[in-house]
Amino acid sequence: MRQSSKWRLDLPEIAPSGEKAISLLVVQQSSLPILSIGVSDAGVTEIRMAQASGRHVKAISVDQEGIQISCRFARLARVDSCVEFFMHDVRSGFSSIGDGTIGFVYARQSLHYLEKQELGTVLTEIHRLLETEGLFFMVVKSVDDRWAQHPSATYDPSTAMTTWIYPREGNTGLTMRRQFFTPETLRSYADGAGFHVVNIESHEEVLYWDYAHTRKDEHSSSLLSMCCVKR
Ligand SMILES: C[S@@+](CC[C@H](N)C(=O)[O-])C[C@H]1O[C@@H](n2cnc3c(N)ncnc32)[C@H](O)[C@@H]1O
Repeated sequence: MRQSSKWRLDLPEIAPSGEKAISLLVVQQSSLPILSIGVSDAGVTEIRMAQASGRHVKAISVDQEGIQISCRFARLARVDSCVEFFMHDVRSGFSSIGDGTIGFVYARQSLHYLEKQELGTVLTEIHRLLETEGLFFMVVKSVDDRWAQHPSATYDPSTAMTTWIYPREGNTGLTMRRQFFTPETLRSYADGAGFHVVNIESHEEVLYWDYAHTRKDEHSSSLLSMCCVKR
């Protein structure tokens, strides 16, 4: 699968933790498909995953417009036969995907939208899909993130969700809701689903406001990445 130099120039940048996931999957001894939960950067991470590994990529999202943009990029990059983007809510499970039939699961900045019970169920489902020695790479917001510390932030222990108001000049603030994690809470979710945790790293990344990754946030976000293996 060769990219023309035009496409190499035009594809949006992918996040450092997306690059990390790609470096993990290219050294993995597996030919089984990759499942990506939550698509952004116009699907470029998933396109690069297919190009780098030669493996099939299934990518889900709950954003119809984002799916359409990603499908267009995949056609232009000539990988549309190897990368499928489709609407699917991860909370519905994956009844059409058999046990042990996925080699790698990537979930960057998508599972922190889930409440405590939902996340536990989803991680158990991811564990079921993965082959033995399959890898799961998850990136979420850390409790050190500025929004977890914001004066408007309130934490609900029954769901583990934090709600805060994102201020907008001249407009009513936006109500935002995420689950923020410590390395310990992340590890306990992974343990609960039966995973062996390889590592958990904290890092800062500047995120983007838009789907095509052209408008950078003015602040960096505090994130946690966890790499797990199914034993
Ligand atoms: C902030 S974007 C991040 C996506 C991308 N992985 C990245 O790292 O840039 C969040 C993504 O999670 C997806 N998402 C949120 N809730 C979801 C759910 N319940 N099921 C599937 N996807 C979900 C959204 O549709 C969106 O594509």
